[in-house]
Amino acid sequence: MSKKSESASPGMLPYGRQSIDETDIRAVTRVLEGDWLTTGPAVEAFERAFAEKVGAAHAIACSSGTAALHLALEALWLVEHDRVVVPAISFLATANAVRFLGGEVVFADVDAQTGLMTPAHAEAALKRADGHVRAMLPVHLAGQCADMAGLGALARRDGLKLVEDACHALGAFETSGETHAPVGACRHSDMAAFSFHPVKTITTGEGGMVTCQNGDAAERLGRMRNHGMSRDERAFQNAALAFEGETPNPWYYEMEEIGFNYRLSDIHAALGLSQLARLDGFVAKRRGLVAAYERELADLAPAIVPLGRAPGCEPAWHLFVALIDFDQVGASRAQVMRALGEKGIGAQVHYIPLYQQPYYRQRYGRQKLPGAEAYYARCLSLPLFTDMEEGDVARVAQALKEIVAGG
Ligand SMILES: Cc1ncc(COP(=O)(O)O)c(C=O)c1O
Repeated sequence: MSKKSESASPGMLPYGRQSIDETDIRAVTRVLEGDWLTTGPAVEAFERAFAEKVGAAHAIACSSGTAALHLALEALWLVEHDRVVVPAISFLATANAVRFLGGEVVFADVDAQTGLMTPAHAEAALKRADGHVRAMLPVHLAGQCADMAGLGALARRDGLKLVEDACHALGAFETSGETHAPVGACRHSDMAAFSFHPVKTITTGEGGMVTCQNGDAAERLGRMRNHGMSRDERAFQNAALAFEGETPNPWYYEMEEIGFNYRLSDIHAALGLSQLARLDGFVAKRRGLVAAYERELADLAPAIVPLGRAPGCEPAWHLFVALIDFDQVGASRAQVMRALGEKGIGAQVHYIPLYQQPYYRQRYGRQKLPGAEAYYARCLSLPLFTDMEEGDVARVAQALKEIVAGG
């Protein structure tokens, strides 16, 4: 029996939340009752199922989306001073992953209607960086895909690595030209990174995944998530310690380079596997809710419009972003958020342009990219989560109508 949603009642509607049912709870309980809690059979099963779901040869589970981005850049041998193009509109983690490795971030502008970095924006950032870029890190904002075919062509032209920040986009499909591929299949990229934070489409509490098609990269990702530790006898360097005669010693492992503890536990993975089985239902429900928002908000255009639709994509909506002309509405964003809050409706801003963060301002100076500024001036994420009902959408739309009417 699934846990019944109570969100259609006039309680607080958060902007996002997880959907946990009895099958999820049973899956986690089974692991707790077993012998293995840390990375073990449930992680392997989750990785296999995830790789199959997104059409990737390999999936490597890790402790967060941030860890996934860090591991992906590490596995591509990003090193100090390498520059990486990152869209200005994203969560802190996208740019921070570059800095973890001592790389430098080149912020690219985004489309003001979709918040996505297009190939033209990436190209402008590459020009600004004057040819010293190693990689690009597009973000599939809100669950729509960036133009990976276009970005892939740019990457091939300039010999750049390409990592997709797919933390918002599990369940989305790229549909450009002949392509109809799930995000994560890495048709045009080297790797894709996912997050399973509770507001994301599926959750493990905290968790992440990297997908790729390259076996060597997958092997390195697995090693680097666990201290850089290897039990591969073919690679052992210290033969005197490693072997007794021809036979490897049973306790023996080696560390040839330094890695991290970014392991996912079997407890988390069991929840992930159970949630993955519900993914198609989650995506369909979210699409229905977004369609309901589009109908309910139609009267408020042009003061309030939904995020622009990106071509070449079947989105898996993680967020419902409304673009609001606050001057036309006659209230600031803070006033609208507070008024919604008083009516029991949560909202959030995704995102403040990354270059505005004091850390990045100190490092790279003051910047203003026009698309990112225009997008940021208008964006407000309204409640969207699987256990919402269309009645909740109507309640949010009604609240916005009252706010616009000065109520
Ligand atoms: C676009 C984007 N990238 C990366 C991350 C980092 O994921 P996590 O919170 O799992 O570390 C997030 C999470 O909020 C995100 O939204």
